[in-house]
Amino acid sequence: MSRALIYNGRMDLCKTTSLGGDRFLAIKVVMMPADTNPHGTIFGGVLLSHIDLAGSVSAQHEIHQAKWPRQQMVLVGMDRVEFHRPVLVGDIVSFWGSLKRVGRTSITIHVDVEADRKGELVHVTEAEVTYVTVELVDGVRLPVPIRGQNQQH
Ligand SMILES: CC(C)(COP(=O)(O)OP(=O)(O)OC[C@H]1O[C@@H](n2cnc3c(N)ncnc32)[C@H](O)[C@@H]1OP(=O)(O)O)[C@@H](O)C(=O)NCCC(=O)NCCS
Repeated sequence: MSRALIYNGRMDLCKTTSLGGDRFLAIKVVMMPADTNPHGTIFGGVLLSHIDLAGSVSAQHEIHQAKWPRQQMVLVGMDRVEFHRPVLVGDIVSFWGSLKRVGRTSITIHVDVEADRKGELVHVTEAEVTYVTVELVDGVRLPVPIRGQNQQH
């Protein structure tokens, strides 16, 4: 199993992207032999799981920064997943989140995945993940406004 280090929303963990926006270091993971596929590289599903976790931490960070209420969120979509380069055992992998879009009930985060391979930084994967804020009403999950019930879009 990989070991995930989850950081809370401190500004000193934000870096500026090449596009000028802030990106947020959501998690950092050391890739372990148990995460490999039969070819000896890291199994894509392991990365997808970390991308979901990183997207969710980044979405909570954005919601906290905006001072919107803390609400239950669920993953509704994972799009534009691209595996550019293989990830190797021993890579120290950083998952960076940046805000892509906020809708009425949803928030979309772009996750960039970078591997530190013996000092060399390799951009290995990217994806977009969308979460919806929900409330349980009579056993059914219903989307609710992400800014809170009293806020206009
Ligand atoms: C999340 C859920 C409550 C949304 O219900 P729904 O009836 O599809 O809701 P809506 O059609 O009103 O869409 C709600 C928001 O999600 C967005 N959305 C819906 N499907 C989407 C998709 N595939 N990708 C991106 N956004 C999507 C809509 O654009 C809308 O955003 P907005 O309000 O900001 O404009 C429902 O789909 C659900 O419970 N899914 C399971 C979630 C889950 O269990 N995830 C864990 C993974 S196992």
